[in-house]
This record gives sequence, structure tokens and C-alpha cells, in this order.
Amino acid sequence: MKISVIGCGYLGTVHAACLAELGHDVIGIDVDQAKVDLLSAGRPPFYEPGLPELLRSAMASGRLAFSSDIAAVAGSRVHFVAVGTPQLANSNAADVGYVDAAVESLLPHLAPGDLVVGKSTVPVGTAERLADVVTEGAPGARLAWNPEFLREGFAVKDTVAPDRLVYGIAAGDSTAEALLDEVYATAVGNGTPRVVTNYATAELVKVSANAFLATKISFINAMAEVAEATGADVTQLADAIGYDARIGRRFLNAGLGFGGGCLPKDIRGFMARAEELGVDQALSFLHEVDAINLRRRERMVDLTREVLGGQLDGKRITVLGLAFKPDSDDVRDSPALDVAVRLAELGAEVVASDPQAVETARRRYPQLRYLADVEDAVRGADAVLLLTEWKEYRDLDPDRVGSLVARKSILDGRNCLDPVQWRAAGWQYRALGRP
Ligand code: UDX
Repeated sequence: MKISVIGCGYLGTVHAACLAELGHDVIGIDVDQAKVDLLSAGRPPFYEPGLPELLRSAMASGRLAFSSDIAAVAGSRVHFVAVGTPQLANSNAADVGYVDAAVESLLPHLAPGDLVVGKSTVPVGTAERLADVVTEGAPGARLAWNPEFLREGFAVKDTVAPDRLVYGIAAGDSTAEALLDEVYATAVGNGTPRVVTNYATAELVKVSANAFLATKISFINAMAEVAEATGADVTQLADAIGYDARIGRRFLNAGLGFGGGCLPKDIRGFMARAEELGVDQALSFLHEVDAINLRRRERMVDLTREVLGGQLDGKRITVLGLAFKPDSDDVRDSPALDVAVRLAELGAEVVASDPQAVETARRRYPQLRYLADVEDAVRGADAVLLLTEWKEYRDLDPDRVGSLVARKSILDGRNCLDPVQWRAAGWQYRALGRP
């Protein structure tokens, strides 16, 4: 099938490449010419494992192309809208301006029978509104909402083999369902569960899934706060409650909390939308989820100060990890980068490192000092903070690192090191939620 994908960010680029790999003929559209040029040369503008290979193979097949000219969508039967919905600068609400603009720009190029499919995470009610825009602006075209659940770092796998498909369609629009089944023929054929529903449910599925995940993380981080006051170990607590199949161990890793381009802004956007709908009380717990999450960053700064004898000024601190999670170069709302910047603002001499995110972090905070090589970064440190659990950091040799630092103090912001091993090598080991 000929398909267009509007918006070539983390979501759209992976979606376009995967659909081409699955046999469709795909055109990816982005307003940013520099990004289109990179993608056309087979180079992703961000780090995502497996994507460079996939992009090269899809481009070589002749089934994938990129353009900044929206007219290139002509002839596609399905048009995915995968543009961003960032948090507005002066409120908690999501900015749907890019989604509106993408749909408007499609209208003159739609033919009767075409299906516009929203993938972006939007406030509930957006699809209903845009369905009218599509049917009035392009007679015979229709709209569906098909939220995306991919995780950065696993984006290719999550797109090719999703754990569920959700189609939000207008009542009685069986052709939309059939078209989406054709797009996802491989996943549907593999028995992937499908939920076919109305627009509002499809939109809510996405934000409520993210709200649930954020709540799970903040729950365990709240337990970490209690653990810190009592001498309990939150990692053992998570293991123990996680054995209960009703609870489950996944997303119970206590530490510096959640960040990224989705969870933080999605729970805030959800609260803002609930307020507009007059059901803000239903989501008031999400304020607490957000607050618990942000408190972890403060706690990390306090713990660092404590380890350094109450004084941050002039102390050499190495921050390992800047991305909001491993296997990504994304620093949007990254807890690690936030802590690094706060420590620098408090007078510490911060050296920050990350296997992939140094350049993205530098663009956001050029005032920090960055060193890509981990050994260069730790040399002479008074304290080492592990804030993103990259494999190369989890595998660090405490003896080797110990020979490079000024003081053997390690703060494990992700509870990913073995305290016994580090203490045996002479390190002072501190972590969030552990004695
Ligand atoms: C999330 C959702 O998982 C995905 O389904 C949705 O489509 C987009 O948002 P992503 O932002 O890629 O995906 O990251 P995710 O793996 O969910 O992690 C989010 C944050 O939570 C990271 O900062 C991570 O470090 C943190 N986290 C995750 C924890 O602190 N503890 C955990 O146990 C799990």
C-alpha cells in the first residue's frame, strides 16, 4: 500500500522505515529540510538501536523516500500524522498546533477514500474535532486514531511487533478498520490483539497507559523515600512485591525517576485536559506522581552534597549518563541532565559524559563541561554519579575507575550497581532508597 507519514521525529521515522520494511511504499514528510536531507542519505537524525540498518535496507528496496514537500503524499491511501505534541511553555497542557497544521496541510492532497490516521498523543476530544476538519476539507476522506506505544531504545521491535493495536474509528466506519488491518497485515496475521473502539477511548488508552506507568515508577520511588527513613532496601522490596503476579516486577526500578518526551508531559497534559472536562479530581493523584518524581532529583543533589561533606562549591563531580534512559540520545526532560545542571549551578565543577547523548545535551546546555570518554570523565573526581544505566556504566570495573578518581565515592542514581562489589573495592557506595 502507498502510505505517507507526516512528521519524521522518533515516532514518524521509525514508523515510516518499519512500514517500508514490511512491504509498503512509504513517503516520509517533514518541514525540516535538514532532517529530510539526513534521512534521504540513510542517516537517522537521532540514536535508536537497529534504525540505521533498517533505514538503509528500506531505502535500498526503493520503498522508502523522504520529502519536505507535502504534495508528495498524493496517491497515498493512508496518511499517518506523527508530529509532536510538546507541553505548552506557560501551562501543563499539550500543544496540538503541529497536529492541526499537519492535518490542514494534508487536506488539499487527499482523495476520496483516503484515511488520515492520527498517531500523536493528543488531549481526548482532538480526534472528534479533527474528523470534522477532514470530512469538511476533503470530501470522502476520513479520520482514524491509532495511538503508538513504542519505547525509545526498542522502537523498531515495538513497531514491527507491537503488543497491541488500537484503532479509534468513527461509528460504522468498517473501511477504516479494513485499511488499518491491511497496513498492519503482518502484526494482525501474527495474532496481535486488536482493540477497535471510538475516538475518545483510543486517545485515552494512550495517556492512561503512560499515566499508569508513571504512577508505578513514582509508587516505588515513594517507597524509596520511606526506605531511606527506615533503613529498608527498596530494590529488595521491589523484588519481593514484584513476585506477586498481580503487581509484577517491571517498571518498579526505583531511582532518579522518569523523564523523556512522553511520560512527564503526558501526565501533565492529561491533568490539564481533565480540568477542562471538569473531572480534575479524578486525576489529582497525578500531581503527587509528578511531585514524587521531581523530588528524586532534589534528593540526588542533597545526597551528593552530603557525601561531599556538606560542600558542593569547587568539588569535582562526574555525571555518568545524560540521556533520559539508556540506548537513547534523547535528553528531553532528562533527570540525569537536570541533576548535572543543578549541581553546576550550585558551584560544583561538573564533568558530564554519556555514550550517545553528549551532543544533544550540549545543544541544550552548552555551559556544562562534557567529555565523551568515560575514563577522561572520571579522572580526578571527588564523586561519581551514575544517573543513566547504560550497559557500559553497569559493567564498570570498580578497581579501574578507583585508580582514576580523587575520592572513591559513587552515587548510584539507578540502583544498577552491586554495592557489595563496589564497597569491597574500597568505594563509599550510596544509592536512592538503599541503606
Ligand atoms: C514511554 C512508554 O513506555 C511508551 O509506551 C510510550 O509510547 C512513550 O513513553 P519511553 O519514553 O521511551 O516510553 O520510555 P520508558 O521506557 O517508558 O521510560 C520512561 C522513563 O521512566 C525513563 O526515564 C526511565 O529511566 C524511567 N523508568 C522506567 C524508571 O525510572 N523506572 C522504571 O522501572 C522504568
